[in-house]
Amino acid sequence: MLTRIAVFVSGGGTNLQALLDAERAGKISSGKISLVISSNPDAYALKRAEASRVPGITVSKKEYGTQQAVEEKIIKLLEEYKIDLIVLAGFMTILSESFTKRYPERIINVHPALIPSFCGKGYYGLRVHEEALARGVKVTGATVHFVNEIPDGGRIIAQKAVKVLDSDTPETLQKRVMRLAEWKILPEAVERVSAEIKKEKEGL
Ligand code: GAR
Repeated sequence: MLTRIAVFVSGGGTNLQALLDAERAGKISSGKISLVISSNPDAYALKRAEASRVPGITVSKKEYGTQQAVEEKIIKLLEEYKIDLIVLAGFMTILSESFTKRYPERIINVHPALIPSFCGKGYYGLRVHEEALARGVKVTGATVHFVNEIPDGGRIIAQKAVKVLDSDTPETLQKRVMRLAEWKILPEAVERVSAEIKKEKEGL
């Protein structure tokens, strides 16, 4: 009984791609990526889902009006697709407390910095790397953590450090953090958590 995984996305979806590739390569063997939910109908991530024949569904605030209505729709989809584990992979919406409390230690997120640095409300995407460069840190990295009601505040599952170069721009730093850290630790963490859930589902 594989752990059924939903990946939430908003943009390019390179982390989603890393997960799809890991599944295909057998590196994610305890879980199955069964659904992709996008907050943005134009996200390239949806094309990646389609190319891997994973259902991709947009649930946008524009269409549903309020965050509450968006989350109600998402909950219905998660039930319909019998999802056990949610992975936020570049999902640019903060989920409400009532949503995160519904899925304790069943939502994981990848953040492009070493938490507790450069994290919390307002720290997302390229912004994180701009702030890291502005602060002059010599080491940054990525973190995978469980999601709770505090933005970027849940238990840390994995981290990987990446050196900052004097020549870095936010864009070069973002790419290196993705390549050397995010795309590695996210699939590894997803496999680890999926294996635990699978055991639970099988009553072991
Ligand atoms: C990634 O760097 C991810 O860590 C970051 O957005 C990027 C999405 O890229 N997420 C956050 O900043 C969340 N706070 P992707 O769509 O190519 O995976």
